[in-house]
Amino acid sequence: MQTTSAISLQDVRKSFDGGHEFVLKGLSLEVPRGSLTAIIGFSGTGKSVVLKHILGLYKPTSGNIEVLGQDIGQMTPDDLTRFRQKFGVLFQSAALFDDMTVLENVCFPLFEHRRELRQSQVISIAEERLVQVGLDKKHYNKLPNQISGGMQKRTGLARALALDPEILIYDEPTTGLDPILTEMVDNLILETHKSRKGLTSIMVSHDLAAAFRIADHIAMLDAGKVLLSGTAEDFFNSDIELVKRFVSKGMKHK
Ligand SMILES: Nc1ncnc2c1ncn2[C@@H]1O[C@H](COP(=O)(O)OP(=O)(O)OP(=O)(O)O)[C@@H](O)[C@H]1O
Ligand SMILES: [Mg+2]
Repeated sequence: MQTTSAISLQDVRKSFDGGHEFVLKGLSLEVPRGSLTAIIGFSGTGKSVVLKHILGLYKPTSGNIEVLGQDIGQMTPDDLTRFRQKFGVLFQSAALFDDMTVLENVCFPLFEHRRELRQSQVISIAEERLVQVGLDKKHYNKLPNQISGGMQKRTGLARALALDPEILIYDEPTTGLDPILTEMVDNLILETHKSRKGLTSIMVSHDLAAAFRIADHIAMLDAGKVLLSGTAEDFFNSDIELVKRFVSKGMKHK
């Protein structure tokens, strides 16, 4: 049983530019510590906006957000920058630096934030992360455009793991990938989650089948709120009409 939350959003409301239209309308969400949580929901329901609040990139108009027991609303910009080192982030595009090799990409956050380390130590940590995501040594000195899409994802994940984050965030990690690559990335997310003790992983996904397969906790957003939060079983057994529709739609493609 997980009793504590890595992330807790309480009654979060968000409108942009002081407008009267709210994207988040009193959203409360608990992400259990150590869980692999999937955030699902139709397009435009606020999934990415929620992630940006968790990362402190957006401030709520009202409500509270606690991450690892700390109220991020109270943090100064400098505190937040330091705090973000506890996060690893992997977006849809791996967002690698094109002019850096695979190895240099993974070294980058270490050179930025672990200035006390010697170059040889940085390289050895980066290599360790690359081994963990299953990337062969022969690719370390290649540029991103010289490796396949799957290898780019692996490199992006190795870079997200560089600083040994407590929370790993994925926003649509498999959107636009072919089914084989999608399965590989999903498995990589699951393996990474299992292999790092205490890691909390959050994945926003359109791929419902994948969310049900790999996540142990699922939250479905609708109209700026959490419609249902629970296990895959809770979703299959739900009587909520929208959940039923979403579940049957999502599973049909598979
Ligand atoms: N910076 C912003 N300024 C104004 N509106 C925004 C901003 N960011 C997001 N929104 C609005 O918030 C709503 C939710 O957007 P969000 O990107 O979170 O959706 P999503 O659930 O991630 O959708 P998708 O599945 O398509 O990625 C949208 O209506 C969007 O236009
Ligand atoms: Mg989104």
